[in-house]
Amino acid sequence: MKFSGSWKNFSYRILFERVFDPIALYRVDEDKIIFVDVNPAYERVMKVVREKIIGKAFYDVWPQAEAMWSRVIRECLTQKRTMHCIGESVDTKSYLEAIAFPIPPEMAAVIFLDRTKLKRSDNALRRRQRQLRTLAAQLTLSEENMRRLIASDLHDSVGYELISQLKILRELDGREDTKHISESIHELINITENIISENRNLIFELSPPVLKEAGLNPALDELAKNILEPHKITWQIITKGDEDEFRADDSVCVILYRMARELLINAVKHSGASNVNIIINRKPEIITVAIEDNGTGMLKSSNKGFGLFSIRERLLALGGNLKIISEQGKGLMAVMTCPLKLKKGEFAHDDKTNKNTFSR
Ligand SMILES: Nc1ncnc2c1ncn2[C@@H]1O[C@H](COP(=O)(O)OP(=O)(O)O)[C@@H](O)[C@H]1O
Ligand SMILES: [Mg+2]
Repeated sequence: MKFSGSWKNFSYRILFERVFDPIALYRVDEDKIIFVDVNPAYERVMKVVREKIIGKAFYDVWPQAEAMWSRVIRECLTQKRTMHCIGESVDTKSYLEAIAFPIPPEMAAVIFLDRTKLKRSDNALRRRQRQLRTLAAQLTLSEENMRRLIASDLHDSVGYELISQLKILRELDGREDTKHISESIHELINITENIISENRNLIFELSPPVLKEAGLNPALDELAKNILEPHKITWQIITKGDEDEFRADDSVCVILYRMARELLINAVKHSGASNVNIIINRKPEIITVAIEDNGTGMLKSSNKGFGLFSIRERLLALGGNLKIISEQGKGLMAVMTCPLKLKKGEFAHDDKTNKNTFSR
């Protein structure tokens, strides 16, 4: 193609040479698509040398090219209209969009736009959507499991004790034998004490009162005691910033408490640690809770579980984040960061119904 002659053609040549996207010009010769010219961007991106490919057939330069690339060029040349296609290019290991323009009488110019990054972020987005869908299903399942657990706890403990109580009371009805009455009252007192204790455990599991009454620091201490002590793992709570001065919203405390629970269980399940530090750091606007263990650290082959994913998602939803700092053999530190106060309407912890509700 000759660009010289008029100032217009000269401008086109400059455009062809300077544009950042690869452009190739083709013609058909005896049924073969032949390279007429390529611009410097084509040489750079496709890693070819202009002089070595001009005059050569398309498939001699790109022997592995998918049929769609030659088809788009051929159709553009035969139908004399702009054609478009997008797909993976095996030769260049990238994801390309090609727009082919006819240049009468017998040439086609094809501009290649690199869409690899777009494709990658699109794939990442799809992956994330899939994970979120699974997470939603997991949440429903774990809610259902929790309900079943509570129901079976109520049935096995409180329910059983109440039936025993009723049986004794029925037997007492109309009896005048004072010895028997006094023995039965004794038994009833024992049963009632058991009911109260079972009830207290259940309430604690549902919503730890210490969190509401005493705040996050003592609640995390008690949580660590319950989770770590049975496994003979020692722990320290290290705090910075006054809890009263930098008071976090109830919802923030609940989320951090529940997420810390998952991280402590992870330390027990996965790390083989002998010690765990719980570091709570309060600043004027943010709170960080870090759970640091001295265990194995995260292995490269670690599976991507839902525990960490769901912690990350929940914190992101509140404007916070989760960072995992881990070196193999040197333990793991999970740092949760969250704003102390949530924006109005972002997440409401309804104290009256004791339900967490997202409001729009
Ligand atoms: N404290 C830890 N020490 C070592 N490895 C960990 C730790 N916490 C998590 N991991 C690794 O990260 C993976 C993902 O954790 P998580 O998302 O909580 O899923 P799960 O606990 O269900 O496996 C775990 O399977 C484990 O391999
Ligand atoms: Mg886990």
